[in-house]
Amino acid sequence: MVNICCIGAGYVGGPTMAVIALKCPSVKVVVVDIAVSRINAWNSDQLPIYEPGLDEVVKQCRGKNLFFSTDVEKHVREADIVFVSVNTPTKTRGLGAGKAADLTYWESAARMIADVAVSDKIVVEKSTVPVKTAEAIEKILTHNSKGIKFQILSNPEFLAEGTAIQDLFNPDRVLIGGRETPGGQKAVQELKNVYAQWVPEDRILTTNLWSAELSKLAANAFLAQRISSVNAMSALCEATGANVSQVAHAVGKDTRIGPKFLNASVGFGGSCFQKDILNLVYICECNGLHEVANYWKQVIKINDYQKSRFVNRVVSSMFNTVSGKKVAVLGFAFKKDTGDTRETPAIDVCKGLVGDKALLSIFDPQVTEEQVMRDLAMRKFDWDHPAHLQPMSPTATKEVSVCWDAYEATKDAHAVCILTEWEEFKSLDYKKIFDGMRKPAFVFDGRNVVDVDKLREIGFIVYSIGKPL
Ligand code: NAD
Ligand code: UGA
Repeated sequence: MVNICCIGAGYVGGPTMAVIALKCPSVKVVVVDIAVSRINAWNSDQLPIYEPGLDEVVKQCRGKNLFFSTDVEKHVREADIVFVSVNTPTKTRGLGAGKAADLTYWESAARMIADVAVSDKIVVEKSTVPVKTAEAIEKILTHNSKGIKFQILSNPEFLAEGTAIQDLFNPDRVLIGGRETPGGQKAVQELKNVYAQWVPEDRILTTNLWSAELSKLAANAFLAQRISSVNAMSALCEATGANVSQVAHAVGKDTRIGPKFLNASVGFGGSCFQKDILNLVYICECNGLHEVANYWKQVIKINDYQKSRFVNRVVSSMFNTVSGKKVAVLGFAFKKDTGDTRETPAIDVCKGLVGDKALLSIFDPQVTEEQVMRDLAMRKFDWDHPAHLQPMSPTATKEVSVCWDAYEATKDAHAVCILTEWEEFKSLDYKKIFDGMRKPAFVFDGRNVVDVDKLREIGFIVYSIGKPL
């Protein structure tokens, strides 16, 4: 039996390891974490993350060949393959602050592996890391190894939240990078054998270490760039009377471009796009490639522009003031089918509206009041650094309330802002919502989920991203 241990029981470690356990009954998988509450939740009926299909997978293998534990050292010691899936946030201070990846968590995991290991191990980078991280990790491990042999592999994860289980069951590709030495190639083959139990061989790509590390940053940069491209077009659509959905459809019909990932929005969010592009920008700058750095920086700038453009649209449409007006916010998660709020565009939009003295009433089917308040009180980049959690700011509590129902959130509101594309927002009874609101009643759809014509017929004044006004 192959023993796998994964350090980090988060959005990547938990689902990825659960699927490996399900697909490879002859592999024992233990997911470890220093966060006791997270491990307790993985061992309970209330898993720490909401992800469609995850419950079923975990229930099928937990206690058989899938285990969750806080006994990090014991399970690392016993493992043949150690995945490291810890957080790699943006540095908040010191050299490269605001751009570079903070590898503190990664390095402490590597040092711990070197300390406790008593047998040879394959160490797999699952976290997204700067290119050349494997070299640093290799140094830490070999200089502390007491004669034990370590092989480092890069095996970046491409799952998206909300579809993680689907993505893991049926990945476009699995990427494994390793040293081009006999030992490196043997390790690559061992990891390949794990994935080959359910992923077709032609979808398992093997490369050198640096290509694998860089491909992950490149893939996220390309994906985010598509969104910024379509969002840039959405501004031009609004200025000219073109319709961004029609433009995206026409553009995406070109098979060289393709139809996916061209939905205009209030901006992309999530824990990785911004962080990984900033990281890429920093690596380019460190290599003296300033033009390349500036090119990718622009993807983030357009994203920030899109969020502030949305806030400006709300305020200017409502006669240049939202002061004291109740504004209902539908959706706070960074996308549908997840409760994750990391870097959600809703944070910037809500802060912008509160900055203009709006009174917000927020509803999201998967996000708790505590989470909303914490997010609105936090400084940029602090969310991934638990030690820096800020106390709740009085502004966040006074001007923001959280509701458990869209109808309650919109009652007596002057405007509704849709910030997440939850399916249920498409089928709300908008006539009922209109009747309960102050007039004129505005809808600002940041995700293009509502039927604009229908809502206008009801009597709403509707603004929808990239649609004719
Ligand atoms: P996360 O914050 O949800 O999980 C990381 C976990 O690692 C936390 O529970 C933390 O307590 C734990 N941890 C940190 N240091 C530790 C240590 N020394 N020992 C044991 N546990 C430790 O993060 P995530 O979203 O799962 O992301 C992990 C990595 O995967 C990041 O590098 C991210 O960029 C990358 N990634 C994320 C996604 C995604 O969809 N979230 C997708 C692909 C790649
Ligand atoms: C993204 C990538 O899709 C994954 O391949 C990658 O593994 C992951 O980042 C990561 O490295 O963390 P994720 O952030 O979970 O996955 O979700 P996406 O579906 O990519 O959505 C990201 C953001 O872009 C969301 O806010 C979403 O609403 C927005 N988006 C997406 C758009 O605005 N328009 C689109 O057409 C698609």
